[in-house]
Order: sequence, then C-alpha cells, then structure tokens
Amino acid sequence: MRAAFASRTDADNPLAALTVGEQPEPVHPDDDWVTVQVRASSLNHHDIWSLRGVGLPADRLPMILGCDAAGIDPDGNEVVVYPLIADPGDPRGISILSEHFPGTFAERVAVPRSSLLPLPAGMSLTDAACLPTAWLTAWRMLTTKGRVDDAAAVLVQGAGGGVATAAVALAVAMGKRVYATSRDAAKRARIAELGATAVEPGARLPERVDVVIETVGAATFDHSLKSAAPMARIVVSGATAGHEPTVNLRRVFAMQLEIVGTSMGTCDELRDLLTFCAQRKVRPVVDSVVPFSRIEDAFAQLHAGTVFGKLVVDHTA
Ligand SMILES: NC(=O)c1ccc[n+]([C@@H]2O[C@H](COP(=O)([O-])OP(=O)(O)OC[C@H]3O[C@@H](n4cnc5c(N)ncnc54)[C@H](OP(=O)(O)O)[C@@H]3O)[C@@H](O)[C@H]2O)c1
Repeated sequence: MRAAFASRTDADNPLAALTVGEQPEPVHPDDDWVTVQVRASSLNHHDIWSLRGVGLPADRLPMILGCDAAGIDPDGNEVVVYPLIADPGDPRGISILSEHFPGTFAERVAVPRSSLLPLPAGMSLTDAACLPTAWLTAWRMLTTKGRVDDAAAVLVQGAGGGVATAAVALAVAMGKRVYATSRDAAKRARIAELGATAVEPGARLPERVDVVIETVGAATFDHSLKSAAPMARIVVSGATAGHEPTVNLRRVFAMQLEIVGTSMGTCDELRDLLTFCAQRKVRPVVDSVVPFSRIEDAFAQLHAGTVFGKLVVDHTA
C-alpha cells in the first residue's frame, strides 16, 4: 500500500530520510486489533523528530510515520484513532503510532479496537485528524495538568505551532484571558484573530498568568518563569528550541511555581476533547489540507517552521 515512511534517519537533514512509496499491509499483533481505512491524517513535529532518529532506532526501520488519523473502521463507521498503544517493550509502557507500530501516513493502519472513538456529529474527518496528538496534548496541559478551571489568565509560548494554536483556541473557548508569543508578526496577527493578545517573545505582559503552556523550551522558559503569577503552573510538553534552559530556582520557590511535565493524554481525555469541540463548536486551526501526493511538501513546510496550526493530509485525494 502507499505510505510515507522513514527509510533511514538523518539527524541533520531529516527531510532526506523521508520516502513515499510502497509498504506492506498492516498486521494485527493480537485478535482485538482492526484495520482502519485512513481518510485523513495530520503532521506533528514528532514526525520530524522521528526522521532525525529521536525515538526511532535503526532496527525499527523502515517505519511508516504519522500519529494522527481519522477514517473508516471495518464496520463502516467513521472513527477517530487514539494513537497511544500499550507497549510492554517500551520503558514508558506505551508508545505512539510510528514508534513501535506502523503509523498513519498510509492507506490503512492497524490499531486495537479499543483505540477507536466515534467521529462526533457535525465534525469532518479532516478536522478530527488534527485532534489525537497536538490537540489532545494541549487539552491535557490545560485541564488535567494546568487546572485551568482555577485560572484567569493563560500564556502560550510559540503560538504558531500545532499544540500552541490548540491551546490558544481551547483556552479562549474556556473563557480565559489568553496571551501568546510568536517570533513572527504574521502569526501574531493570526493568533489575535483567535482571541488572544499576541506579543513578541519575551515581552512583559499586562498581568501575571496562572497557567503557562510551554512547548518551545530554552528560548522561552525564562519568560515563562517571569510571567507566572504566585502558585502558577508552567506545563511543559515539548522543547523544540532546546531542552536545557537556565532556570531561576529562586523564582520557582519564592513564587511557589509548579513546573509540570506531561505527554499526550488518555483515551478518556481524547473523548472529553471530542465532546468539548463538538458541543462548543470549536474546530482545529488548520494551516492547509494537502493531498497525499503532496505529503513531502507538507513535511518541508513543517520543517521550515512556516506553519500556522495543523497541516492535514487528505488520503482520498
Ligand atoms: N510530549 C508530548 O506528548 C508532545 C505532544 C505534541 C508535541 N510535543 C512537542 O511539542 C513541540 C511542539 O509540537 P508541535 O507539533 O506543536 O510543533 P510545531 O507545529 O512545529 O510548532 C513549533 C513552534 O515552536 C515555536 N518555535 C520553534 N523554534 C523556536 C525558537 N527557536 N524560538 C521560539 N519559538 C520557537 C514556533 O512558534 P513561532 O514560530 O510562533 O514562534 C513553532 O510554531 C515539539 O517539540 C513536539 O515534539 C510533545
């Protein structure tokens, strides 16, 4: 079947490790696995890390990439795929599609039947394909980890990214005052259209915030600390710009800050996110929808950092 996969890894030039071509049909490691016909998928920064070899050792190659999918189950139902799989071979006890098990950038993907959630009424498959990784991560950062119900103001760093645009859209829909930084003036203009106050990286905010959404890392972490109100939660799920920031510990204890790490979310949290989006009519921020035949262009755009929101792949085109 047609697929986009890592044929090798390349730490310096990840796009050179991407191949589009034929791969074997999915196999079912267990009786409770099913095959989903993928109708739409979306890119995540995780796919670039995989091509660099982060979390993808040579003995697992070739590996079909892609964490997110929406499609059709064997009974003809429209479904959203929860991408974390129980994995005793991984030290975390779980892995995300495309780490140990083939991913979603293919005509078909195999997953446990329990990983399938019904597509909410009124939601398109292309919108749903944005939610399982970036949006789920942002949802858990805000709710379970950030305890945003108790917050008045939220700061989102690096606002152009998939997780970050999700956090802005969700926090605005929850009625919070949202501040967002981006290096790019055009992205700041677009984030303001979502209802956030957009500022340059490092800018002093008009107030301290109760929750900070951090996926950038070293480039923004000091600003996150300085912008945090007493007892604030700085929730970290990524470090695109470096994972070893300088941390002012005096500020951490004096302001009684919580620095909280998180990864992805549970299947129940994805169900809650789907319900929230359906009921509040919140839809993902989509940069563009590209046909599968142009998936290499989408990878190049993500790598270049020019994306605003999610890049969706239409597997029917
Ligand atoms: N732990 C998890 O479960 C989990 C889940 C999803 C994602 N992640 C991680 O979270 C990060 C974001 O993922 P994503 O898919 O949202 O990525 P993305 O769409 O590529 O967005 C990355 C954003 O980071 C900002 N950025 C990059 N380099 C920067 C720099 N040097 N200085 C300031 N800002 C910079 C950019 O914002 P501006 O251009 O607007 O400044 C960019 O839009 C990745 O590292 C990813 O691996 C982790």
